[in-house]
Amino acid sequence: MDRLHTSPQDSADAGHLTRLFAMSPDLLAAAGFDGLLKSFNDAWEHQLGWPRATLEVKPYLEIVHPDDRSETEAQIARLAQGETIAEYVCRMVCADGSIRWMAWSGGPGEEAFYIVGRDVSDRLAMEHELAQRADRLQGTNAELQDFAHIASHDLSEPLRMVASFLGLLERRNAEQLDEAGREYLRQASQGAQRMRHLIDDLLTYSRVANEEPSREQVDLRGLVDGVLAVLGPAIAEASATVEVGELPTLEAEPAQLQQLLQNLIGNAVKFHAPGRPPTVRVGARRTIGATVVTVADDGIGIDEADQERIFAMFTRLHGRDAYVGTGIGLAICRRIVERHGGQIYVESAPGQGCAFHTLLPDAPAAPGTPRHTPAG
Ligand SMILES: Nc1ncnc2c1ncn2[C@@H]1O[C@H](COP(=O)(O)OP(=O)(O)OP(=O)(O)O)[C@@H](O)[C@H]1O
Ligand SMILES: [Mg+2]
Repeated sequence: MDRLHTSPQDSADAGHLTRLFAMSPDLLAAAGFDGLLKSFNDAWEHQLGWPRATLEVKPYLEIVHPDDRSETEAQIARLAQGETIAEYVCRMVCADGSIRWMAWSGGPGEEAFYIVGRDVSDRLAMEHELAQRADRLQGTNAELQDFAHIASHDLSEPLRMVASFLGLLERRNAEQLDEAGREYLRQASQGAQRMRHLIDDLLTYSRVANEEPSREQVDLRGLVDGVLAVLGPAIAEASATVEVGELPTLEAEPAQLQQLLQNLIGNAVKFHAPGRPPTVRVGARRTIGATVVTVADDGIGIDEADQERIFAMFTRLHGRDAYVGTGIGLAICRRIVERHGGQIYVESAPGQGCAFHTLLPDAPAAPGTPRHTPAG
């Protein structure tokens, strides 16, 4: 039969396979059910540090970490019954006593089984590090949310007291004060007002962070009109022109979407160069499976180095004398967008205005209902 007459092609193939076997960075072996390696490549020596002569006589289970031996035996028993294994991870003990994590796949043979092992120590270490970091972040986030909630509630009461007594002082006793005294009073009232804003923003942030948005159909045009009415005084003060393009209906949480647009349009109106009235454009376009809502302005713009960090809590690029604010607006925006499964980012250059793009994915279809195809 064929086996008796190996053709030149067969021996060429065998030569190639031997070369490939030797070159593989993965551990390759035919392992006997008697507990010894029958044939194995050089990667075993290179990666585990055991000399070939040792590996030839040492039962392979002895280089498996003691805690993983019984599970490894169970996997070998599966191979003995003709099963294959994919991604069995166990620890191997190297000659120098160090530990490597290896992911094994294996297939059965007659007197031996065939195994391929890949060193996944680095990957596992990275996954472990990532999981720990995610845990820490989640903890910090939860703490921050609790803090924001408690702070905003507990600070509100004493602040209300301060503000109302300042008001009383102003109404009843302002005349008894000299000019300097009235100025102190005015500054104290302003401070209290700023604190009121800060607390309100913190409360909004913690509310957005804690509550799952309940989605409904929202007419974006109507929503923007409402926002423009709220921002009316600021728009008039800045002599801003706001141009609104065609806007679709979206599935979103209306109050949160309103908050988002109010922050973005409010910023667009606010951050204009002194003496140059801003033009703000609000528009939307369809992309695959999502709508992108854009608020663009022709204001002072943002340096590329700051374009990510402006979305963090309390980040402001200017002093309060130049532009008022608490630095929470965009952090709230990012939270809202993330809660809707979307993304927010800015395109800008100093002096060139800003375009804030908010990508809002279509709401995931309920199980069993077909997804609507994106239009346009
Ligand atoms: N349209 C814009 N043009 C230029 N800079 C902007 C614009 N929007 C935001 N920024 C910059 O990003 C910072 C953060 O914005 P954010 O809305 O979070 O804070 P704020 O407007 O200063 O205060 P708040 O919104 O809490 O009242 C701003 O202080 C400003 O420096
Ligand atoms: Mg703002």
